[in-house]
Amino acid sequence: MRSFTVGAAVLLSTALNAQALNIISSNDDGWAEINIRTFYNALTSAGHDVVISAPADNQSGTGSRDEEPSELEDPCQFNSCPAGSPAVGFNQSEPRFNYVNSYPVTSIKHGIDTLSPKFFGGAPDLAVAGPNTGNNLGATTAISGTVGAATYAAHTAKIPAIAFSGVGSETAWNESTPLYSQVYADLATNLTDTLIAAGTPYLPEDIWLNVNFAEVTEDKCSSVDQFQFVLTRIFKAFPLITPDDVDACGETYLPTETSVVRKGCFVTVSVGTAENKKDADSDAQKVVLEKLGSLLTCLPKD
Ligand SMILES: *[C@@H]1O[C@H](CO)[C@@H](O)[C@H](O)[C@H]1NC(C)=O
Ligand SMILES: *[C@@H]1O[C@H](CO)[C@@H](O)[C@H](O)[C@H]1NC(C)=O
Ligand SMILES: *[C@@H]1O[C@H](CO)[C@@H](O)[C@H](O)[C@H]1NC(C)=O
Ligand SMILES: *[C@@H]1O[C@H](CO)[C@@H](O)[C@H](O)[C@H]1NC(C)=O
Repeated sequence: MRSFTVGAAVLLSTALNAQALNIISSNDDGWAEINIRTFYNALTSAGHDVVISAPADNQSGTGSRDEEPSELEDPCQFNSCPAGSPAVGFNQSEPRFNYVNSYPVTSIKHGIDTLSPKFFGGAPDLAVAGPNTGNNLGATTAISGTVGAATYAAHTAKIPAIAFSGVGSETAWNESTPLYSQVYADLATNLTDTLIAAGTPYLPEDIWLNVNFAEVTEDKCSSVDQFQFVLTRIFKAFPLITPDDVDACGETYLPTETSVVRKGCFVTVSVGTAENKKDADSDAQKVVLEKLGSLLTCLPKD
């Protein structure tokens, strides 16, 4: 009887956790880049309510810059809006697709402050950025606008946030969807849903996840089921100086995302402190390890 009650409670909480979330989405490659649209479709198919608020143009490498948006002098990226368009705007037939003619941080801020109250009636439950067309590993995270948007959300706006990055080249939203774009969108949705299923708070305060995907080609890592998720760290640890990481696989330190992402079909998941874009401590890593538990695997010993 007792075990039946527990089972029913687990089932009930699973059902509740499967609820649709309100998600704000940004990137640094631009609102019209195909990855953000493919991810939108995947999250929407999974039942979430998603609003895109991303730069009008490619803003790759602009870190945490933030500036009042201005009217478009030139057309938006890939001709996705005409020259002379207002500083912020949206797709007339899909108002959830919004551009901001400024930096990634400015874009996600507009999404959180202005669009979320309008579409969600309040703050978003979660912020996502990317998938970026290019990995953001180690020191690169400092200049990445995709990471800038996620860390703004996690630190300043106190919204749990995930930055996703893979390998690819900027592609217009109305081209045919590259294989990698679909694989990354599905993997990112899986991680997002796994995190959501573990309940609130989705992440500890001021924590963001830096997630990177291995390259996808026709004959290597070409489908979602070939990928494995590994808990990693952003920066290399220095023995005796760096405090121990959480014990995920029997080692003192987690492997670096840079060393893992090129080893095979891996998704690296690093736990970062949004305030300084550095690795989080072992307590925060432990929370994420427990939340993503079922998804994470250890690297094969070489
Ligand atoms: C986007 O901007 C980055 C940084 O300035 C640049 O390296 C890249 O080539 C740009 N991409 C496109 C498609 O113009
Ligand atoms: C705007 O949305 C419509 C309908 O989904 C689509 O056909 C069109 O390509 C979109 N344009 C942009 C720039 O998003
Ligand atoms: C995508 O839409 C833009 C703006 O309407 C247009 O200039 C471009 O030719 C379209 N590209 C494709 C592949 O349809
Ligand atoms: C995520 O992927 C794993 C492994 O492929 C699968 O077992 C699991 O059901 C997926 N979870 C979600 C929430 O999509």
